[in-house]
Amino acid sequence: MDNPAILVENLSKTYGSGASAVTALKEASLTVRAGEVVGLLGPSGSGKTTLLQCLGAIIDPSGGRISLGGEVIYDGGWHYADRRTLRRDRIGFIFQRPYLIPFMDATENIAILPMLQGRSNAEAGARARELLATLDIAHRAEARIEQLSGGEQQRVAIARALANRPPVILADEPTAPLDSHRALVVMQLLQDMAEKNHTAIIVVTHDESIIPLFRRLYRLRDGVLHEEQGEREGEQGVAT
Ligand SMILES: Nc1ncnc2c1ncn2[C@@H]1O[C@H](COP(=O)(O)OP(=O)(O)OP(=O)(O)O)[C@@H](O)[C@H]1O
Ligand SMILES: [Mg+2]
Repeated sequence: MDNPAILVENLSKTYGSGASAVTALKEASLTVRAGEVVGLLGPSGSGKTTLLQCLGAIIDPSGGRISLGGEVIYDGGWHYADRRTLRRDRIGFIFQRPYLIPFMDATENIAILPMLQGRSNAEAGARARELLATLDIAHRAEARIEQLSGGEQQRVAIARALANRPPVILADEPTAPLDSHRALVVMQLLQDMAEKNHTAIIVVTHDESIIPLFRRLYRLRDGVLHEEQGEREGEQGVAT
């Protein structure tokens, strides 16, 4: 069998040290195959963002192992000196809040990553416009970020994470600021990405309306991760 796209083994994270130390992740293990969209649930403070940020090489774990596509990227230390390149080329991250570049317009915010990867302006711009249309914000393509609503900014941030067609997408509550119809459009887009490009996707969510769409779910509680047992229907496709 192929190597899983994402393999996390006994991953731990402790913030701080001594009396103020907070252990946010306790020996967490998880597997996501290429083409799979997996849900990650858990109460506030249970370690969801911490897990995603460790996996996305944004923060340093305290121990354990992370492999992407069969390649170990962290094993008590990073195997990549240049983690910025690792993130740029292999991971699409949708943050819990949309971190966009305020002085650029929506299209530029999306096109910048493909351009940094060496795509032409025309190709990067076309990809950005295609994503803006799918996410129903083509009419705001030239608006500066500060002129967009919270939900519109989130959709630009989602488009940016998908622009490079990375093999791994980590989405931290991507649908939280969206209405239920748009939340389903985003989930459909992520599932299409998974199917067409064999992307492995983890979606953190509190959104009850999208939970039934996942075929597999993990749950975090006080830093302890479990896979939810039992057959799930999931991924029946979304009527839009
Ligand atoms: N930079 C930090 N320094 C110290 N403690 C932190 C830091 N970031 C998170 N924590 C703590 O780690 C624990 C897990 O936080 P995390 O942000 O991963 O939770 P979460 O499940 O994403 O919560 P939410 O649903 O509210 O976003 C919490 O107790 C939090 O207070
Ligand atoms: Mg969080």
